[in-house]
Amino acid sequence: MHFNSLQAVLLLALLPHTLGQVEPTRVYLPPPATSATAASDPSNPVNEQWNNILGNALYFFDIQRSGRLPENFRVDWRNDSVLADGSDVGLDLSGGFFDAGNYIKATLPLCWVVTQLSWGAAMFGRGFDAADQTAYLDETLRTGLDWLLEASSKDGELVVLIGNEDSYWGGDLSIPSKRPSFRVTRQKPGTDVFGSCASAFASASLLYNGTALPLSRSENGTVPSLKNSTYAKTLLDRGKSLFELAKTATPQQVYQKATDGVEWAYASSDFVDELVFSSTFLALATGDKTYADYAQQTYKSSGYPVTDGAVNWDQRAPATPFLLAQLALSQPNLGVDFSKYQSDTEGWMDRITGGIMSKTLTTKGGLFWFEGDSDAASLNPALNVATIMLMYSGLASSTSKSTRYRTFAQSQIDYVLGKNPMNVVYPAGTHPNSPKNPQSALASGGSDADNIDNDPPVEAHVLYGGVVGGPDKNDMYYDQRSDWKQTEVALDYQPPLLIIAAHQIATNASDPYYVKGMGAVVTPTKGGRGSGGEGGGLSTGAKVGIAVSIVVGVLLLAAIAFWKRNQILVLCGRGRSDKKIRHTRSASGERLNLGSM
Ligand SMILES: *[C@@H]1O[C@H](CO)[C@@H](O)[C@H](O)[C@H]1NC(C)=O
Ligand SMILES: *[C@@H]1O[C@H](CO)[C@@H](O)[C@H](O)[C@H]1NC(C)=O
Ligand SMILES: *[C@@H]1O[C@H](CO)[C@@H](O)[C@H](O)[C@H]1NC(C)=O
Ligand SMILES: *[C@@H]1O[C@H](CO)[C@@H](O)[C@H](O)[C@H]1NC(C)=O
Ligand SMILES: *[C@@H]1O[C@H](CO)[C@@H](O)[C@H](O)[C@H]1NC(C)=O
Repeated sequence: MHFNSLQAVLLLALLPHTLGQVEPTRVYLPPPATSATAASDPSNPVNEQWNNILGNALYFFDIQRSGRLPENFRVDWRNDSVLADGSDVGLDLSGGFFDAGNYIKATLPLCWVVTQLSWGAAMFGRGFDAADQTAYLDETLRTGLDWLLEASSKDGELVVLIGNEDSYWGGDLSIPSKRPSFRVTRQKPGTDVFGSCASAFASASLLYNGTALPLSRSENGTVPSLKNSTYAKTLLDRGKSLFELAKTATPQQVYQKATDGVEWAYASSDFVDELVFSSTFLALATGDKTYADYAQQTYKSSGYPVTDGAVNWDQRAPATPFLLAQLALSQPNLGVDFSKYQSDTEGWMDRITGGIMSKTLTTKGGLFWFEGDSDAASLNPALNVATIMLMYSGLASSTSKSTRYRTFAQSQIDYVLGKNPMNVVYPAGTHPNSPKNPQSALASGGSDADNIDNDPPVEAHVLYGGVVGGPDKNDMYYDQRSDWKQTEVALDYQPPLLIIAAHQIATNASDPYYVKGMGAVVTPTKGGRGSGGEGGGLSTGAKVGIAVSIVVGVLLLAAIAFWKRNQILVLCGRGRSDKKIRHTRSASGERLNLGSM
């Protein structure tokens, strides 16, 4: 795109005033999806397609914003909302982001989003600068961080969730006002969420401090131009105090044990990984050996490395050795053994690329699949592996391993961007083959919770850049709004794509897969609906399960059903239709199966 100076001046006059400290030289608005069918001009210093993927992925965060919106906000169909959030606990928590397709605000996944984004941006920062997206990155990070600063502003307390399970379906003007704030405290701690927030603050502090993280033994990455020492210090101080809470407040426990009313949303499975992550980021940000020693001791005494499993908002254990390897290079005086953590990181990666990790498979179409984790939102675990492998590849112990990790990452990136049996380009609004019906109460334009799919027939607003859940195990994607496992969007689905795009721009990668020219979206085969979907009524497995249970005893089933009604509704993919709105991402919820009840 070329802008003459008059256009630039006019556009500058339209800029919102409450962006972060940096101003973009032009307002980025997502281009029409049809622009994705043209190959980029190779003489352009920034690949236009990757530029748009990056720009759209950040634009999605603006769509999700809550509270009072800035003047001239670029998402013109959004309104001010939930201005009283936090007032029940004496805080102003009106800002921040809505978590997903619904309107809750959830601290644990938000902290992971900020952490992951800061981590990747401290390696491929040049990509944000080159694409003129640094102002939007700054705005996105600050929107999250400022909300977290407020949520943790009372000494020894942290708000972990706003909103309750009653699912409201409709626009942003009539969100029900009863939105309770749930807290953890020094007396009733949430070790995981204290640690996760400490990571968010420490990693962002590193970024605002202008410190790049290593790409290889001989090269540091680049940071985007958003350095601000004042902000970096504020973030670091808060990171330190939250880490002290995680480390010292007893009993050390997962946060859903501390407060009633949060288990249904994002229950966490563990807190050790958050302790290791937060102390490592604090060691990176401060150079203080105490943090490095704590990280290493906790890693060792907890039986790490963890060489199986996915990485996501709840679980980051397999990624801890990679971060420690970066610490070893970045702060060579702390006595961290690079080779040990390099080898531990590769233990996990080699099991994936070697196809020998337990409870994993690759779908026929090529998507890497973690049993359990991929059954809902299948793209996220695969994209997280791709992102971590891209970030790590320069640190690998041999060129062949480095190539293997990059090749694996590329296969998953290609899948998400069109190289799949359905010809779907999974980020919404990106390509004519992108999903048309993401599950999002904000974007749908409907208010009939019993008729999410057809009220209205065409989604009112395009959710540009939103990565949807993804296909089922048969690579089938049904594009039905009511099917949250496949079509819902969420904050934590975004950072992997953002980091990948910044990496591609920073390394002058060629066009994404979809530019090669693709056929139309393939209609999903009838009866092919596998483990991922729920919009089509009961799956065969659920029918069999229920039939068996009826034989075993209707009364027993009824008793269990009442006791575990929410999980059963999710499992069987039916029930009151408002339950088609995602209401549980909890690790326990996702891992639940009929046998374990
Ligand atoms: C740095 O961040 C602080 C805190 O958000 C802000 O008040 C200040 O304006 C920023 N400084 C610059 C130079 O942008
Ligand atoms: C924002 O308000 C307008 C009316 O001013 C309404 O048409 C629109 O649907 C609202 N947006 C959302 C997301 O509800
Ligand atoms: C990378 O940066 C860190 C400080 O942030 C420094 O200690 C290290 O020497 C740098 N590494 C290289 C290869 O320049
Ligand atoms: C970055 O952090 C170091 C160590 O805490 C500090 O000395 C330095 O002034 C910081 N730089 C900026 C730009 O914040
Ligand atoms: C990408 O291209 C820019 C110039 O457009 C150049 O400065 C940079 O070194 C290139 N980077 C890589 C990794 O090739």
